[in-house]
Amino acid sequence: MSNEIESILTENRVFPPFDNLVQGAAISGMDGYRAMCNEADANPDEFWARLARENLVWNKPFTQVLDESEAPFYRWFGDGELNVSANCLDKHLGTPTANKTALIFESDDGKVTKVTYKELHARVCEFANGIKALGHKTGERAIIYMPMSIEAVVAMQACARLGIIHSVVFGGFSSKSLHERTVDVGASLVITADEQVRGGKTIPLKNAVDEALGMGGCEAVSHVIVYKRTGGQVAWSEGRDVWMHDATANQASQCEPVALSAEHPLFILYTSGSTGKPKGVQHASGGFLLWSLLTVNWTFDAKDSDVFWCTADVGWVTGHTYITYGPLAAGLTQVVFEGVPTYPTVGRFWDMIQRHKVTVFYTAPTAIRSLTKAAEASPSHHPREYDLSSLRIIGSVGEPINPEAWMWYYKNVGGERCPVLDTWWQTETGAHMITPLPGVTPLKPGSCTLPLPGIAAAVVDEAGEEVEQGKGGFLVIKRPWPGMIRTIWGDPERFKKSYFPPELKGYYLAGDGAQRDKDNYFWIMGRIDDVLNVSGHRLGTMEVESALVAHDLVAEAAVVGRPDATTGEAVVAFVVLNQSLPEGEEADHIAKQLRDWVAREIGPIAKPKDIRFGENLPKTRSGKIMRRLLRVVAKGEQVTQDVSTLENPAILDQLSQAH
Ligand code: WT7
Repeated sequence: MSNEIESILTENRVFPPFDNLVQGAAISGMDGYRAMCNEADANPDEFWARLARENLVWNKPFTQVLDESEAPFYRWFGDGELNVSANCLDKHLGTPTANKTALIFESDDGKVTKVTYKELHARVCEFANGIKALGHKTGERAIIYMPMSIEAVVAMQACARLGIIHSVVFGGFSSKSLHERTVDVGASLVITADEQVRGGKTIPLKNAVDEALGMGGCEAVSHVIVYKRTGGQVAWSEGRDVWMHDATANQASQCEPVALSAEHPLFILYTSGSTGKPKGVQHASGGFLLWSLLTVNWTFDAKDSDVFWCTADVGWVTGHTYITYGPLAAGLTQVVFEGVPTYPTVGRFWDMIQRHKVTVFYTAPTAIRSLTKAAEASPSHHPREYDLSSLRIIGSVGEPINPEAWMWYYKNVGGERCPVLDTWWQTETGAHMITPLPGVTPLKPGSCTLPLPGIAAAVVDEAGEEVEQGKGGFLVIKRPWPGMIRTIWGDPERFKKSYFPPELKGYYLAGDGAQRDKDNYFWIMGRIDDVLNVSGHRLGTMEVESALVAHDLVAEAAVVGRPDATTGEAVVAFVVLNQSLPEGEEADHIAKQLRDWVAREIGPIAKPKDIRFGENLPKTRSGKIMRRLLRVVAKGEQVTQDVSTLENPAILDQLSQAH
């Protein structure tokens, strides 16, 4: 890790903003940016109030901006009322946007379906009426476990319209993970599909829902609404299960959006933390909507003529903010994609950008790194073989983008005409926090550059004091912002403990290490807790450990991350079995069994890349597992650190054997 940081910090290429993007940008020029930052710093309440009034449609105007009386449980615009879906759809009716294409959906096998804003509004209304007709009401929770589809966007928007709090579970998560989330949110409704299709393969979803609901504790679920994607075989529970097309049949295409307090929870989205149990990050309606819309306008400098494409899945926060809510609130045309970047060829993304004339493209470093390798192996699908001249802005999200991947993206996809926006943010922050702006910021490959106006980002030490330029520390946000997490669903104590530790002066602790350079640019140095980032997906080491020890063969397990050229980090598991140390084929066989087990317990993304068996784990005399050493062993490096506190130093040699 430290070598990587060293090389990143010696990165000294600077790419000034392109003149054509500075002209007419939402935030234009460094002076324009500074003026907005100054406005925000001089009076944050007035700044956010102005933006909330100018950008959102309110049923009842707010009189209070930020309520800090129960800090850190901040409330924004709390006595104001609005509806998020009305701000994404109804707002455009009666304007030229009504007949504009809202979604260009492309299925795995390349079939394209377009819906206009007017049509999307009608479909959301019909589905919301269908949900109402089944008896579901404002304040209930719905689990959404769906493939990328127009229907997934419709489902989320319909919930928002009714004030039903949705919790989307990524379709790659196992029935066990789905069960855990369904119980935790106390869902009364599940919206799913028969199957999903990715890379030419079908994967059952409804079956997984049946399995999850059969695990007990989900008795509150009175309906499962099923979108028929493939027509594949599904079991049916009469009275509980309803086809989505039956639920919407004969429903009116008008449905009054429910006026809700700006603080009404919009959604709960689970993400990994440093304990085994994922956290239900709760977002509020008004603040989240404002922040997602503003960042679409600021960071992506949204223009009416844009064709926006965020390649994330709605199962992650990126899909919430930059597919379902932000771009629709901004009235953009956007591409929604069901499939994977490598099917039917590794040129799929480039082909889609060319065919749909995408202007703003937003993807993850993992995708870029794997497509770099793929393009080199398959020159006929290299991005230079496609016409990507429609692009004007390209973005990156979810994990650090190394300068090499940055340069490849900049040259081969952006044609040296498009800024690469390295956007730093988190599930908890709701939307972008630290990011270059196309009309403002000189770029340095590997740096997410400067905070957005109103975002008081800083790097501090253990006492909350700002550290000098060039020194590492904790990344914090000193002032609340509207898009921030409100609490952890059902666990306010964990919320306080995780994000507002008392020694940090009430600052929001992001959980990332960072440093600032001489220009005050931020360089993210990775997580400071036991959270890994595998292909841009957050994964708790404890989560994987709990899954492993739940297997009959496993006595003890420790999981660490190892730098990986494609996935950013890879999961390495050190395992002590309830039997003698396996060797050769037996070891391979058990390792495979355990990998599959983890995929079933959590999901395929959590599968350890490498499993090492030992008779024990390296522990201090007081019994603490020394993960620091395991990280060195995982990298295949020689342990040079002091091991004198180790109870059993010989174990390190044993664990160095790969399986
Ligand atoms: C963690 C948040 C961002 C939404 C999708 C992931 C890492 C995110 C960057 C970036 C370096 C980044 C951080 C952060 N991360 N963006 N541009 N550069 N690291 O959201 O699953 O909540 O993960 O992803 O470690 O804390 P998430």
